Amino acid sequence: MFYLIGIGMGDEKDISIRGLEAVKSCSKVFLECYTSKLVNFDIKKMEELYGKKVILADRDVVEKKCEKEMLEVAKNENVALLIVGSPLGATTHQDILQRADELKIKTEVIDNAGILGAVGVTGLSLYKFGRVITIPRENDNVKSPYEMLSKNKEMGLHTLILLDVGSVEGEFELMTAKEGCDYLIKNGFEGEVVVCGGLGSNDPEIKFGNVNSLDVKKLPQCLIVPGDLHFMEEDALKSFK
Ligand SMILES: C[S@@+](CC[C@H](N)C(=O)[O-])C[C@H]1O[C@@H](n2cnc3c(N)ncnc32)[C@H](O)[C@@H]1O
Repeated sequence: MFYLIGIGMGDEKDISIRGLEAVKSCSKVFLECYTSKLVNFDIKKMEELYGKKVILADRDVVEKKCEKEMLEVAKNENVALLIVGSPLGATTHQDILQRADELKIKTEVIDNAGILGAVGVTGLSLYKFGRVITIPRENDNVKSPYEMLSKNKEMGLHTLILLDVGSVEGEFELMTAKEGCDYLIKNGFEGEVVVCGGLGSNDPEIKFGNVNSLDVKKLPQCLIVPGDLHFMEEDALKSFK
């Protein structure tokens, strides 16, 4: 069996009981480490709780070497790929399920909370979000995220803005909300945004105010540009001023 398991966002304890039971049945456990990071990530605590060695899997392993390193093994033994947040919150993981299918390997997806739902803590209605956009770190000539934001705005919809994640030799390089705000300002944006850090942990940071003036410390971070606001959403945002 090949398991794709969402482990939530805060720390190693956010895995579900079903997810933990699956992990314990596996001979190999990988943690995908290039699309997101637990707010409080401690691999030693994770290995202790899960009772398994956790192998960090970068983009090269998940996208190019997955057949050899994961799927071949999963023909005869249970293998887990752990994903921070929801397991299918990034398009890249649909691909590994399809490859497993082609190799006639049984798969199971075990869900968890991810960023797309976690932003509900801001008080903005999840039903009123438009297309999610991602700002790359190198963004000097990148216009499409800003164009999508403008389209959401025209429809009165909120825009969740995700930020680039990189990892160099196992070390995460997470783009900050401040860098995201700089991209918006560079493209002519004026107005108020919500910045969020460490969502899904027990102590998230959320601030609402002018795009020029906001900063949070906890990582990972994201931004929201609010669309048309219901009075209850307005009240909720005021508490983050
Ligand atoms: C590809 S998305 C995350 C996908 C993940 N599988 C999920 O469902 O949450 C990664 C981006 O989400 C945002 N993000 C992830 N975790 C976050 C957190 N705890 N607080 C704020 N933003 C977060 C960051 O902008 C990060 O670069």
